[in-house]
Amino acid sequence: MKIAVIGGGPAGLYFAILLKKSRPDIAVTIHERNKADDLFGFGVVFSDQTLDTFKTHDLESYEAIRRSFAYWDDIEIHFKDTVHRIGGNGFCGCSRRTLLMLLQDRARSLGVAMQFGSEIADEASIDADMIVIADGLNSALREKHRDHFGTRVDLRPNKFSWMGSTRPFDAFNYFFRQTSHGVFIAHCYQYEANASTWVLETTPETWASAGLDRMTEHESARFMEGVFAKELQGHTLQTNRSIWRNFPMIRNERWVKDNMVLLGDAKATAHFSIGSGTKLAMEDAIALYKSVLACDGVSAALSHYETTRRQEVERTQHAADTSLVWFEDVQRFWNMDPVQFAFGLMTRSKAITYDNLNLRAPDFVAAVDDMMARDVAAKGITAAPRKDVAPMFQPWRLRDMKLANRVVVSPMCMYSAKDGMPGDFHLVHYGARAMGGAGLIVTEMTCPSAEARITPGCTGLWNDAQQAAWTRIVDFVHANSEARICLQLGHAGRKGASKLMWDGMDRPLPEGGWGLIAPSPLPYYPESQVPRAMTEADMTEVTATFVAAARRAEASGFDMLELHCAHGYLLASFISPITNRRTDEFGGSLDNRLRFPLKVFEAIRAVWPASKPMSVRISASDWIAGGLDSDDAVEVSRAFARAGADLIDVSSGQTAPQSKPHYGRMFQTPFSDQIRNEAHIATMAVGSITGADQINTIIAAGRADLVALGRPHLADPAFTLRAAAWYGDATHHAPKQYAPGRDALYRQLEKERADLTELRLKARPKSHAPEDGTERMAAE
Ligand SMILES: Cc1cc2nc3c(=O)[nH]c(=O)nc-3n(C[C@H](O)[C@H](O)[C@H](O)COP(=O)(O)OP(=O)(O)OC[C@H]3O[C@@H](n4cnc5c(N)ncnc54)[C@H](O)[C@@H]3O)c2cc1C
Ligand SMILES: Cc1cc2nc3c(=O)[nH]c(=O)nc-3n(C[C@H](O)[C@H](O)[C@H](O)COP(=O)(O)O)c2cc1C
Repeated sequence: MKIAVIGGGPAGLYFAILLKKSRPDIAVTIHERNKADDLFGFGVVFSDQTLDTFKTHDLESYEAIRRSFAYWDDIEIHFKDTVHRIGGNGFCGCSRRTLLMLLQDRARSLGVAMQFGSEIADEASIDADMIVIADGLNSALREKHRDHFGTRVDLRPNKFSWMGSTRPFDAFNYFFRQTSHGVFIAHCYQYEANASTWVLETTPETWASAGLDRMTEHESARFMEGVFAKELQGHTLQTNRSIWRNFPMIRNERWVKDNMVLLGDAKATAHFSIGSGTKLAMEDAIALYKSVLACDGVSAALSHYETTRRQEVERTQHAADTSLVWFEDVQRFWNMDPVQFAFGLMTRSKAITYDNLNLRAPDFVAAVDDMMARDVAAKGITAAPRKDVAPMFQPWRLRDMKLANRVVVSPMCMYSAKDGMPGDFHLVHYGARAMGGAGLIVTEMTCPSAEARITPGCTGLWNDAQQAAWTRIVDFVHANSEARICLQLGHAGRKGASKLMWDGMDRPLPEGGWGLIAPSPLPYYPESQVPRAMTEADMTEVTATFVAAARRAEASGFDMLELHCAHGYLLASFISPITNRRTDEFGGSLDNRLRFPLKVFEAIRAVWPASKPMSVRISASDWIAGGLDSDDAVEVSRAFARAGADLIDVSSGQTAPQSKPHYGRMFQTPFSDQIRNEAHIATMAVGSITGADQINTIIAAGRADLVALGRPHLADPAFTLRAAAWYGDATHHAPKQYAPGRDALYRQLEKERADLTELRLKARPKSHAPEDGTERMAAE
């Protein structure tokens, strides 16, 4: 068997080494267009975990890497004259040049044939049973078969350049510098004695304003020396093909064509801010070599590689995506408390959370807790900082309504009302969740008229009997818990007259339906009823029903109101251009589309007591091309805030059946982050948030002020009580009748937490720091 590898970078070399080592009978030839020592780049980064992997697969190259690396455990974040040093992040830096030289030596010693100065642009010139395309991000062979591979390149807006310096470091450093042109960022680490990598990054606007678009490589290095003069401590910046580029996020729908396979950057890139480019390339090599060993024949091996490797690559790319966006948006976080800024940076890609940071850097997490406590006290919510409490248990306030903690039961239709009447089910349902410890309960969407309902099972608030039933629930919640309760008011619009959830979500009732209204006469599904386009008289009438319901809500004793302007229901369908095709003053521009929802909001706000807060639930993205996006959502939020909204409840989608959300853990939280930190409005995050650790991370990073959980609360009414027991928050309230259960739970979870912490500490990758202590090789 003959294998040709195009490209002698880390991916191609490592694959050749591993394969040749196990299968000396296979002829492996590397074609590298450059000369053996014509190498670019400064340092590359590997984590302890990656070093573990290398050690397992080829001890010789691992030892060679280890002989020449710089090791560190800490990350330092330098922001506005503050420095946060966060430990427990075992990493090494290694010269890319040294890495490639030692991989070349190892490959040569194993009998890999290496042809330097051999540039391959066409597979026809290669005589091999299998061709490994490892020629980097501009891969010529991939480009040739771009349509087959389904190559997608997302060229990111920020500009970056790799430079080097002789300044030593004993940690990974992030430097943030404000200049008259804008913010510059430097990602820096040492990779061998007196040699460090400086990846410099800025927005295209700042880059152009500074004139970097017109400078030579040499001039740009001198300019950047000026920006980071303090950080360089007298050292200079070195260049080596250090041109400013835009990072290409490369993805391929298919990795295999006939006997050819993509490897490393040619196949998928990962942004430098997670330091995984070389790691990903070398781990690809491991996966491909294992597939060749495991399978009979080239075709089986290549498809095995793609099947087994894709998920891990996509996971890393997703983490890289979220990480790079944080740096692109850095201006958004510029006015944050430096501790919050640092915590946000550390937790940006979801891999690091409040809990796992607590294992590696408890002092930093204590500073985060302290920052949260100071913030709450500074806002006058507590008389003095409430120390030693996890962020989710810091109280919160909206107008005169105080919340004991940041956990919210998300509004969820129970489809169990008769003629809009909440019954015993609702009393038990809401009562149990209030006693379970959430700070705020939001009721299911409750309708101001019978015609406003989604289904015949929806609750309403248009008559005295319903008002009395809601009063019973509100009174129970107030008498037996510290929870506050918010009524969500909404009108179904074109999604009305539908079946109950369990009979067919959003599908039209076969009989007994009622007439529907909407901004435009567009049915939800083709078989759905065609709604009537609303007249101004309809708008006046609907507004009056909302106002009447709000008065009844006040009479029932609700603490808060939420106006449902999300999920494609009536008010949402006015806001979205997908569902609003009107040509009058209620359609067209965003301002026009907001006119009716704002009118309803203002009318309710006018009768709702000034001491009580109101929120608005929005769909921050339609997830449809040409629909609402997150920038629109910032404007929508600003408009409601100007009208008196105290909180934006940030959901997304459900506008129309063609909506394609990118589901995943906490998938809507980035919208909340953007709205909170760009529009400076309190927000509530929701959507696939399942654990207390995630809530603490979201709150402490300033991505939201409150966190709503829907489905987790259907499975566990006492979610918040459990979390309080887990974190040992002794002040958490539980009904006195339940005290023995509460105490037992606290004891049990304290022990479980200690056991888990021990297990997690043991499971951490072993440190690869040199035993002789030379890891702090910085100052030579
Ligand atoms: C300018 C630059 C500097 C970088 N510096 C760093 C750094 O300091 N630290 C870091 O961690 N990462 C750095 N990276 C990213 C890092 O190089 C990649 O993530 C990683 O090397 C991917 O490995 P690879 O083997 O897939 O591709 P590469 O390392 O890009 O290797 C591809 C190889 O293929 C060769 N080649 C290309 N086309 C052909 C052809 N048609 N025929 C034959 N050979 C060909 C190239 O010369 C190259 O040697 C840098 C990237 C660039 C573009
Ligand atoms: C059964 C069910 C009913 C729901 N009803 C409503 C509702 O009445 N109003 C609303 O705004 N959202 C409603 N939602 C959406 C939830 O409030 C929440 O945004 C969504 O479930 C995502 O959060 P989760 O991942 O924590 O469940 C409902 C969700 C479920 C599962």
